[in-house]
Amino acid sequence: MNVLILGSGGREHCFAESISKSKNCDKVFVAPGNSGTSLVAENLDFSPLDFDLVKEAITKYNIQLVVVGPEDPLVRGIHDFILSDPILKGVKVIGPKQKAAQLEGSKDFAKNFLNRHNIPTAKHRTFTSAQFKEACEYIEKNPPPYVLKADGLAAGKGVLIIYDANQAKEELYQMLFKSKFGAASSSVVIEEFLDGIELSCFVLTDGKNYKILPGAKDYKRIGKGDTGLNTGGMGAISPPPFLTNIIKDKIEKRIIYPTIKGFETDNLDYIGFVFFGLILVGQDPYVIEYNVRMGDPETQAVLPRINSDFLELLNSVFTGNLCDFDLQIDQKSSATVVMVSGGYPEQYEKNKEIKGLDKVKESKVFHAGAIREEGLLRTNGGRVLAVTSLGKDIKESLEASYKSISKIEFENQYYRRDIGFDL
Ligand code: AMP
Ligand code: GLY
Repeated sequence: MNVLILGSGGREHCFAESISKSKNCDKVFVAPGNSGTSLVAENLDFSPLDFDLVKEAITKYNIQLVVVGPEDPLVRGIHDFILSDPILKGVKVIGPKQKAAQLEGSKDFAKNFLNRHNIPTAKHRTFTSAQFKEACEYIEKNPPPYVLKADGLAAGKGVLIIYDANQAKEELYQMLFKSKFGAASSSVVIEEFLDGIELSCFVLTDGKNYKILPGAKDYKRIGKGDTGLNTGGMGAISPPPFLTNIIKDKIEKRIIYPTIKGFETDNLDYIGFVFFGLILVGQDPYVIEYNVRMGDPETQAVLPRINSDFLELLNSVFTGNLCDFDLQIDQKSSATVVMVSGGYPEQYEKNKEIKGLDKVKESKVFHAGAIREEGLLRTNGGRVLAVTSLGKDIKESLEASYKSISKIEFENQYYRRDIGFDL
């Protein structure tokens, strides 16, 4: 089988690795990919948002399966596009259609879905600029902190947590009237603040059946102790030690099962990964967001723990065999630490030579913002590499990842030294 992966991050390098190892894999292509994907696949130099070029690649390279990494192409309807084109008939897509992708593309759509299906989530109201006065009254009536969310996609930046009512009203004004997050904030969800520990759960579904993949915890902030600006993710560990069987059970019964049932009831015809962003309040799980794809860097911590043939797992979604698929999970823990360009998530320099990868023996290094030019590996983005190790416990896997990082070098490199600190 020939597979096309869309995306260019560490997640896509990790997908390419796992898929290329499959006994059923003939060739993997990644668009646009990075220096890591080119080690195991062929990179194709086009944007996944250019659907005509996606189509051209599918026909030219006889692609049978498309795996969509990031949310953007899904929210813009890549699955529907492929399905509706007679020339692409029979091509399979991992990733939901546009209607279901709204679970990530619109916070209001997701909140309404959660409420309609009685899935635990923070209380909320959604407001447009015409309802500004009402929104201010809502803020005054409710206790701080206030969680303000741009309704649409805002590249992970559209959520504000504010401790003062007046400041919340000012920020709301900036979002609704001054396009603080562009068109994404033309409508804003204000929700109750949930105090607890966050975790990420993943399932693969064919719309009726599902397989639960290993859970993970990611570290979103740039600074020590999870402080400072939000990033795409600075590290991840899997499994989170606090994810006990009792909690897993609650997550499945209260959240995963009703979500998949909800897909059926609402005719969402969902195919692909569901990423549940959860908060445990005491021992009770709540959904804070749905993503319609795998997480980054969680994928780099989760997939190395899957011992089954990953392409066969993906394919079982289309053959009706997902339910019976024997998913083998490694009992070891994994720890992923992300190395970034100094300055990220704000301004940073690119084009720094990356050295020392050949000395890394006990970890897997997934490339993200990195390119190879004239034989030299160089930085090309904020998040540059994700270093994953497996160990008998989190401590051992973290030690191995940090040991590997000490051998890697690029100018102005930065990484969090405290991934897993809270566990
Ligand atoms: P989201 O983009 O919805 O994942 O939100 C980004 C981050 O904001 C989350 O990872 C949480 O840390 C935080 N957050 C979102 N919603 C809430 C909430 N209702 N209560 C507390 N924290 C939240
Ligand atoms: N690591 C969080 C995300 O992929 O959205």
